[in-house]
Amino acid sequence: MNTEIKIAPETYWVGKIDDREVPFHRLILTKGTTYNSYLLKTGKPTVIDTVDMEFGREYAERLAELIDPLDIHYIVINHTEPDHSGGMAALAGKATNATIVCTEIAVPELQEMYKLHHRNFLVVKDGDTLDIGGKTLLFKETPYLHTAETMITYCLEDKILFPCDIFSTHVAVDTLFSDEAGNDITDDFIGYYNAIIHPHRRYVRTLIEAVKDLEIEMIAPSHGYIIRKDVQKYIDLYATLSRETTEGKKVAIVYTTLKNSTKKIAKILQDSFQENNIAVDVWDADKADKTDILSSIAGADAVFIGSSTKYADMTGTNLEDILKELQSLNLEGKLAAAFGSYGWSGEAIEVVQDYLNGTNMTVQSTSDVIKSTGMTHVEFPVRIRFSPKETEKVQKIKHAAEFVSDLLLSSI
Ligand code: FEO
Repeated sequence: MNTEIKIAPETYWVGKIDDREVPFHRLILTKGTTYNSYLLKTGKPTVIDTVDMEFGREYAERLAELIDPLDIHYIVINHTEPDHSGGMAALAGKATNATIVCTEIAVPELQEMYKLHHRNFLVVKDGDTLDIGGKTLLFKETPYLHTAETMITYCLEDKILFPCDIFSTHVAVDTLFSDEAGNDITDDFIGYYNAIIHPHRRYVRTLIEAVKDLEIEMIAPSHGYIIRKDVQKYIDLYATLSRETTEGKKVAIVYTTLKNSTKKIAKILQDSFQENNIAVDVWDADKADKTDILSSIAGADAVFIGSSTKYADMTGTNLEDILKELQSLNLEGKLAAAFGSYGWSGEAIEVVQDYLNGTNMTVQSTSDVIKSTGMTHVEFPVRIRFSPKETEKVQKIKHAAEFVSDLLLSSI
């Protein structure tokens, strides 16, 4: 395949095909992948995304055959993960007149990753447009799809969506357009969705709402095939795959509290699960009957157990007995998480976590979340210092509940 391909008037694919078996997010991409970068040779020439950092120098040199890098006016970075932004190290050094276009959260990341502290940045917000001299780009922020700084770009005149990781395939394609692949790409498309996107599907639903009024004639993603035929079929596939099951699910929340802060965490968890159509039992371990609590846990799909910390240990009198009893029960298939408020170091939360790890439930941990999904905004156990009053603390608790909700409500 050529190193650059015209995909629309003045619009070129300038990416890199990687036909190796690529290690990625604890997966091996057995069919390889592509890093799709696009050059819009307009009045204000614009590059949309780059390539993996390993191919940055080669990429910048090839791009220089198509355009004088000093003429590049904008570099749009939809997503800072290095398989998208990795070419910046080489490109920014050549395209010294270019302004970097990205979300606010992406600015410090790009500055640190590629030593771009002294470069011009243009921060765009949801719905902003940018005249690039003959074409207009529209930006939509898509936070957590799949990282906080992510956005997507749409070219109004050509009706092309540049959706970054979304609607991608991990295939080292022979032909760039899906309709020229010689085979149905649906399995590869769904395989990518399942492996990469599904954990983030609540934000897929937001994305589909955000693009539903756009007339999209071509999807030019960051990996694999460009889609220009049956575009709506692929968008509809994401809509279907990202739906939740309607099967009734239940969570049991058990806590002890010293000054009501852990109780407040339990309430935020409860509200968040209920917003996700999950039934919730909430138990104050020092007020409810132990048999009722154990029965509730036995009937739940997920169990959250929390405690305040006093003198480096759990508070209350009953929680430890309950946690001990859980050790001998068969709780296989249930999800579990620890939470709590603390003032100093919060040892009780770790004690609860240790007990949960002694059961046969699947206990959530930050390490597992980040390894399996790349999410950095979801933390387990849920540790809140003092009362959960501030927005960031409430968000942290809600993110944990939403993560577990999504695990429970997966329809695939
Ligand atoms: Fe294609 Fe988020 O990496």
